[in-house]
Amino acid sequence: MSEREPIGVVGAGWVGLVTAACFAELGHRVVVREIVEEKVESLQRGEVPIHEPGLSELISKNADRLSFTTDMGELLADARLIFVCVQTPPTVSGDADLSAVQRAVEEIGEPDGKALVMKSTVPVGTGRTIRRDEPDLAYVSCPEFLREGTALKDFMEPDRVLVGTDPGDEWAGDAVAALYQPLGAPIVRTDVSSSEMVKLASNAFLATKISFINEIANVCEELGADVTDVAKGMGLDDRIGSRFLQAGIGYGGSCFTKDVSALKMLAANSGYHFQLLNSVIEVNELQKRRVMAKLSRHLDTLVGKRVALLGLAFKPDTDDMRGASSLVLAARLQGEGATVAAFDPVAEAVAAPLMPGVEMAGSAIAALEGADAAVLVTEWGEFRELDWGDVVRRMSTPLLVDGRNFLDGEAVRSAGITYEAIGRPSAEGTRVAGGREAEQAKR
Ligand code: UDX
Repeated sequence: MSEREPIGVVGAGWVGLVTAACFAELGHRVVVREIVEEKVESLQRGEVPIHEPGLSELISKNADRLSFTTDMGELLADARLIFVCVQTPPTVSGDADLSAVQRAVEEIGEPDGKALVMKSTVPVGTGRTIRRDEPDLAYVSCPEFLREGTALKDFMEPDRVLVGTDPGDEWAGDAVAALYQPLGAPIVRTDVSSSEMVKLASNAFLATKISFINEIANVCEELGADVTDVAKGMGLDDRIGSRFLQAGIGYGGSCFTKDVSALKMLAANSGYHFQLLNSVIEVNELQKRRVMAKLSRHLDTLVGKRVALLGLAFKPDTDDMRGASSLVLAARLQGEGATVAAFDPVAEAVAAPLMPGVEMAGSAIAALEGADAAVLVTEWGEFRELDWGDVVRRMSTPLLVDGRNFLDGEAVRSAGITYEAIGRPSAEGTRVAGGREAEQAKR
């Protein structure tokens, strides 16, 4: 194999580790520079600090091509292309916090003949500013579109790759395009600002699609239609597409929440009021809370009631709790006087310190034991395997709100559980009887 371009990656978070592991898999030597010493030490021991399917295996498979360091000098000695993959969390004002990006840029400096390749999601105009301040460092915008849980596949089989450069940096854009060329995806060459905007606009559009279908779901509930059939019928129209049309208790995660707000603020700072995004955000917030109304329809009060949360992570196959709907839901339930027991197959350890007073049950059945209601928050596959007959016997009152329209409603109902979903015909009757309560009443 001919010698492949060595690559530097700054930041060992989700995007950084996936980028590093995948480029190593494609035959490149990759130096990853991470500022947190403990993270570097654990990566050097072969321990991967995040839960992403297949990532540990890919890192250990390519261990001889991957190195982890806290020393930027080590990275700069080797690599011509430096991928910046640091976090850009929202500030209290909703703008993106660029301090990690700024620190990385300062530490990289202006080494001759090198290029900074920005993978982090940054506000439109960031690249232009960095290029102005560091005129000897070439700059490429190459936003990452990977989703947690399917990150390796998303990296290796992208729908498209954006490569944004401004005049003078075309050589760096060509080098980045060459790296991605083996993946066979369309490579879209633009200026830096347009590439930055593609990333923000794509996430904002997907979030809009979710809030749209959630509002359709809410109207379906009023009118007796079924949103899953509606979404199927809509999605088959090529112009609409079936993906990101799953109604539920709202989108979570670090990206949608942050990027929608960043785009809204970016527009506002430039004097434009992005009205549509305000609604997208509001609908998403309200959607998380609608579960409370569904519970109240069936229970006289939540005071003293035990509510089980099935799933905590913002989506399955990750332990990421950033922006998770479970956080809002647990706090609302506790605020109404309920006690909350929760189970998540991988996120319990990450979730526990974020959810004071919530019992981490260790299994779905343990969470459901004696519960007056349950809410499916994250669509982990194992929840489909639950023995609903057993669940009915263990719950105090068998009421289940499926916040992801994930379960076979008929199977759940036929076991005797009052089953509510999102945007689907709702359970008849107002109060739930059955389970232990009904058994006690019979005695
Ligand atoms: C997202 C973007 O998809 C990705 O391109 C970008 O790089 C990072 O942000 P991610 O946050 O990992 O990826 O997860 P994603 O699968 O997009 O889901 C985000 C949230 O939307 C989850 O909470 C999910 O449950 C929710 N969602 C998704 C829905 O409620 N309905 C859907 O139809 C799809």
